[in-house]
Amino acid sequence: MTEKRKKIYVAMSADLVHAGHIENLEVARQLNGDIIIGLLTDEAIAGYKRLPFLNYEQRRIIMENLKGVEEVIPQRTLNYTENLRKLKPDYVVHGDDWRIGVQKETRAKVIEVLKEWGGKLVESTRKSGGMSSTKLNQALKEIGTTPALRLARLRRLFGVKPLIKALEAHNGITALIVENTKVEKSNTNYDFDAIWISSLTDSLSKGKPDTGYVDFTSRLNTLHQILEVTTKPVVIDGDNGGEVEHFMHTVRTLERLGVSAVIIEDKVGLKKNSLLGTEVKQEQDTIENFSHKISQGKKVQLTDEFMIIARIESLILKKGIEDAFERAIAYVEAGADGIMIHSKEKEANEILEFCKRFKEFENKVPLVVVPSTYDHITESELKENGVNMVIYANHLIRSSYPAMKKAAESILLNERAHESSKFCLPIEDLINLIPDNK
Ligand code: SPV
Ligand code: MG
Repeated sequence: MTEKRKKIYVAMSADLVHAGHIENLEVARQLNGDIIIGLLTDEAIAGYKRLPFLNYEQRRIIMENLKGVEEVIPQRTLNYTENLRKLKPDYVVHGDDWRIGVQKETRAKVIEVLKEWGGKLVESTRKSGGMSSTKLNQALKEIGTTPALRLARLRRLFGVKPLIKALEAHNGITALIVENTKVEKSNTNYDFDAIWISSLTDSLSKGKPDTGYVDFTSRLNTLHQILEVTTKPVVIDGDNGGEVEHFMHTVRTLERLGVSAVIIEDKVGLKKNSLLGTEVKQEQDTIENFSHKISQGKKVQLTDEFMIIARIESLILKKGIEDAFERAIAYVEAGADGIMIHSKEKEANEILEFCKRFKEFENKVPLVVVPSTYDHITESELKENGVNMVIYANHLIRSSYPAMKKAAESILLNERAHESSKFCLPIEDLINLIPDNK
């Protein structure tokens, strides 16, 4: 009688396959059983770290062809429980590096669940010179990205993340903050997914009004600074897109540079910032004209991935939800790849009503909001209401300005710089901000 073969479960992302993965498989092979790989889905990986470089299908093909691998199945969450209870493996194999850090609790849960049928955790010790995907990731980040890879990333993110978070940048240094800021909370790493290039903060950082005075050539300069030092996808504020004929050139330029999306607003005449609402004269474009602009933009784009997102100003101009919804339907029909609905109200009820209705819309495209005034709203509320992208549109300029002003006042009041240092980054940290300074 043949003995039942043992089942060995190995969960991995296997995005950047390195010697550490091979060592784990070697340990698994020595256990003499059938190795089943629980390959983390793109959604699972994006939920706790960045979007993988290779998608699930690409990673599955690699794993299926590795020595000793019997089967590859999807693992849909970081937590192994669902797959473990389904398979009841005799062993789970993992590198011993997860005893500390963000995966500590995942490990504890694996041990607890395995006990239900007497399964065991086998941990391999890394011999391969400390190689890890974190280190490989860091190395790749230093190499950078290409316009085509960066451009495609936003659509991929929309495919796997329930809510994309973008933060404003207006120059190289603020872009580095959006690129590199990370926090860890409840065993999950959080960072921003995308960079928003705002017309308001780009203009303000130059001391100019947000009236279209800072022209596209100048906006491109800012864009270049940001692209130079980052790898995350960029969403640019295109104001109203300008003349249709100009917008067609803009789309080509942005695509060539690797920008993922442009958001254009349905207004005409001298541009005024939306947060001024009806305090100033602002006029909305007709549905026909704006739809034409969208469709002409779509016609000239070369890639499948570039996105033209239509921004509806009906709530800003107090024209109500019906008008906004009618426009959303028309703009999607014209080819818009996403809708941004804007509001300057302190309360979110009107915008949430729009979001709820849009959620039911059969041709739903990604929905974007900019909660600058109704900033009490949480990301989970936005998700519940079907929002796919939140833009924190002006927070880096707003947070830096008060500190800069205090430092300037302190120098004047004290007739020396010493007291201002509490508003300042220490010199050493300043130098270390850019590693190549050394
Ligand atoms: C921007 O950030 O420039 C925007 C959003 O367009 S708002 O300022 O709210 O109009
Ligand atoms: Mg703007």
